[in-house]
Amino acid sequence: MNREDFPMLNNNLIYFDNGATTLKPKQVIESMNRYYLEHTSNIHRGDYDAALKTNMEYDQVRDIVASFVNCDSREVIYTSGATMSLNLVVFGYMKKHLKKGDVVLLNKGEHASNILPWIRLQEEIGICIQFVPLDEKFELTLDNIKKYVTSETKVISLAHVSNVLGDVRDISSIGNFCKEHNIIFNVDGAQSVPHMKVDFKNSNIDFLSFSGHKMCGPTGVGILVGKYELLKDMDPVFYGGGMNSFFEDDFSYELKDVPIKFEAGTPPIAEVIGLGEAIKYLDKIGMNIINEYEKKLKKYLVSKLKSIPNIILYNENTDSGIIAFNIDGVFAQDSSVYLNHYNICVRSGNHCAKMLKDEINVKNTVRISLYFYNTFDEIDKLVNVLTNSEDIFKIVL
Ligand code: ALA
Repeated sequence: MNREDFPMLNNNLIYFDNGATTLKPKQVIESMNRYYLEHTSNIHRGDYDAALKTNMEYDQVRDIVASFVNCDSREVIYTSGATMSLNLVVFGYMKKHLKKGDVVLLNKGEHASNILPWIRLQEEIGICIQFVPLDEKFELTLDNIKKYVTSETKVISLAHVSNVLGDVRDISSIGNFCKEHNIIFNVDGAQSVPHMKVDFKNSNIDFLSFSGHKMCGPTGVGILVGKYELLKDMDPVFYGGGMNSFFEDDFSYELKDVPIKFEAGTPPIAEVIGLGEAIKYLDKIGMNIINEYEKKLKKYLVSKLKSIPNIILYNENTDSGIIAFNIDGVFAQDSSVYLNHYNICVRSGNHCAKMLKDEINVKNTVRISLYFYNTFDEIDKLVNVLTNSEDIFKIVL
């Protein structure tokens, strides 16, 4: 789909590393170039035409994001990426509201960005982290979460789609459960928002984090969506220009309202504009169309991989475009070097989910992560290379 919009695809490249970052369509690159070439200026500071145009373009991205994930525009905070968004939740909100002994439920399939900030908070204020085990299919469901909820449970924090196994968690049921039990529901949407319709309001999510660069947008920009009443009570992590109304030599100061109080300093202006263009681009194709197409691609890929005897698959049944596998007896990194020889890009390793090994008993996997511009033909090429992998060590060594 839409392959002609992606200049990188002109080089016979087979790009299957979309979980790490996606390619950028020329519409996104051009929107950022227009800002740099025609109206470079800072935001919310200048009264000249270029600055007013920049203000307008920058500010309207909040509305674009809001309608994309169904929230209020004032609930949209620009950050540098999902990692910063998740850190802002932990150190801006949780640090202020949690106390020693409060329990946060995580699971061992999470990315570093949804585990390390919590470990740091545990060191700082004594919260208690509990890991909900994945089930026999390596999935996280409301049923296995429920077994670990007690009156001390104050937060459930999880990825909507895990970045290695690609299982899609039922955030709507988990969100309802959290609401009924007065538990804060924190969702890492980095691997879901780019691939499916995510509904912040109707899923009862309290905080939702995602990145621009995994959804056809530029690097350096991300989003935190938070319920307005929670954001009102959240502290900024950074202080500086743009986010304050005044400060005086008696040390009094006043911060601006949500969301501006979380956006100190000059933000990634070109990147915010590029992200807005990326969302318009995805919306034009349709998130449901993207999602259905990716599921078909994955089904096809799985059926093909299953016919290759020395392929070990770890997540054939999950409902997203992420496939984790190994070639039997081959170190995952060697497999990706081998695939690179045929111009095929994948990611190998632990994928920043370093505790997942305790659940799946393997440290490193090869990950294919699909997007709407991938094709069945590309999958056939990959399968052909994997089927004929008897020469792998000649190529890798
Ligand atoms: N978090 C990104 C990934 O899973 C970088 O590859």
